Amino acid sequence: MDLIPAPSSAVRRPDEDFPLDATTTLTAPPGLADAERWLRGTLSAATGLPLGPGRPGTGIELVLDGALAAEAYRITVRPGHALLAAGGPAGALWAAQTLRQLLGPDAYRRSPLRREGWVLPGADIADAPRFGWRGALLDVARHFLPKSDVLRFVDLLAAHKLNVLHLHLTDDQGWRVEIKRYPGLTGRGAWRERSMVGYRSGQRRDDRPHGGYYTQDDLREIVAYAAARGVTVVPEIDLPGHTQAAVAAYPELGNTDVVDTAALGVWTDWGVSPHVLNASEETLRFFEGVLEEVLELFPSEFIHLGGDECPKEQWKDSAAAQARIHELGLANEDELQSHLIRHFDRWLAERGRRLIGWDEILEGGLAPGAAVSSWRGFGGGVAAAEAGHDVVMCPEQHVYLDHRQADGPDEPVPVGFVRTLEDVYRFEPVPAQLDAAAARHVIGTQANLWSEFADSARDVDYRAFPRLVAFAEVAWSELPAEPAERDYPDFERRLRGHLEVLDALGVEYRPMGGPRPWQRRPGVAGRPIEGPPPVR
Ligand code: ACM
Repeated sequence: MDLIPAPSSAVRRPDEDFPLDATTTLTAPPGLADAERWLRGTLSAATGLPLGPGRPGTGIELVLDGALAAEAYRITVRPGHALLAAGGPAGALWAAQTLRQLLGPDAYRRSPLRREGWVLPGADIADAPRFGWRGALLDVARHFLPKSDVLRFVDLLAAHKLNVLHLHLTDDQGWRVEIKRYPGLTGRGAWRERSMVGYRSGQRRDDRPHGGYYTQDDLREIVAYAAARGVTVVPEIDLPGHTQAAVAAYPELGNTDVVDTAALGVWTDWGVSPHVLNASEETLRFFEGVLEEVLELFPSEFIHLGGDECPKEQWKDSAAAQARIHELGLANEDELQSHLIRHFDRWLAERGRRLIGWDEILEGGLAPGAAVSSWRGFGGGVAAAEAGHDVVMCPEQHVYLDHRQADGPDEPVPVGFVRTLEDVYRFEPVPAQLDAAAARHVIGTQANLWSEFADSARDVDYRAFPRLVAFAEVAWSELPAEPAERDYPDFERRLRGHLEVLDALGVEYRPMGGPRPWQRRPGVAGRPIEGPPPVR
């Protein structure tokens, strides 16, 4: 059966196969309507079988089982009856995904290649995820990704039982979420005149203007589409750094006593812009206004407020920022950033939400309710978990999917460390140094795909796949007990079959042997970091 991600247990019962035909039914209780709708829509399209409603005890049957955890499920396939028992709606969706996998690669197509010969293999499967947060970050700020591509990416996450889409919606190079009360954020902030092509050192530019944004209705659609597939969309509004697009749209948000922010445009370079927010009360009110609309669009418990890579030079030079530090009784610029994050930590908590930010939010003191995305290695995550804060492990040395997949001249725009498929598969999100109590604060793990060097869904596919498949197994499947390490040869064997699934889905992954000619970018500079990634 070779399922990916590997289930907790799977026993093949070769004498118990269940051939499907036009009379096969599909039933579910009202509480599992999303899974029923998804399964009927997806499997009917792929198989041509109607899968009409039927009676309990026959056909494909979804049921709730209160003894199972919300995301857990069991599948029992016998002749004439496939029973999918789930702890809750999410578990039913994962069971439905597994059922599709049992039918083979053709079940991933959107029209039937054949209407006969569909067989569910007789089996007993029990399954549950290791982590509750199994995420992927899509950076739609550096390069905008049209809505249809985001919806497709959601489908790809769900197919691999990943359940968090972290949407990086704002950055120096573009603001991508419509905010009704501040139309300039997208009117001006969603567009840039040109883009760097590849890394700075290559000095190549594309003079084609770049931009785009999601309307609030687009985002409602994305959120609902994802929810119906078990995926939570966590929005990121990055502050107080990575904000040049916002400052370009509303110059009063910047450090106006240091630079002429009215002369700024949306940034056309890659890197970290020095143009950060000022720390005035008015700026806090502005972003409360932004967040009020964001909360209305995104029901997720967590709201990501970035907090990474905020250069402090403008605050050091700004009389207004220094006066603010003095007025608030703070020691320095790090504490000023911490003051901003604490403000929004409280503000979100009052509205029943939780703040999550990059590990820089530890500097100057972590806000009481904040959770941490540990990206600069494990260190931030370890410190946060030991202090009792929840952590999502996403160290760049291991799971940044913009980093190159192989050494050598053929990798397109090769940046960062070499992170092969095997490296990603061997990534372990919970550092051995954590005791059991701290380890429980590692609520999950996430792979991050920054898009400076991925300007289309085709490039996203190339960098994400097949590594995201390996990552999905890291996030979902328990580590083997003895020895506590993953069996890469076995994964690679299963993956070879799974590549047929990706082919059926139309995913332009990196072939195991290297890029196809059109996946290369000859002459476009990258910034490879030599040597193995440091252990941090
Ligand atoms: C990050 O990569 N700056 C979070």
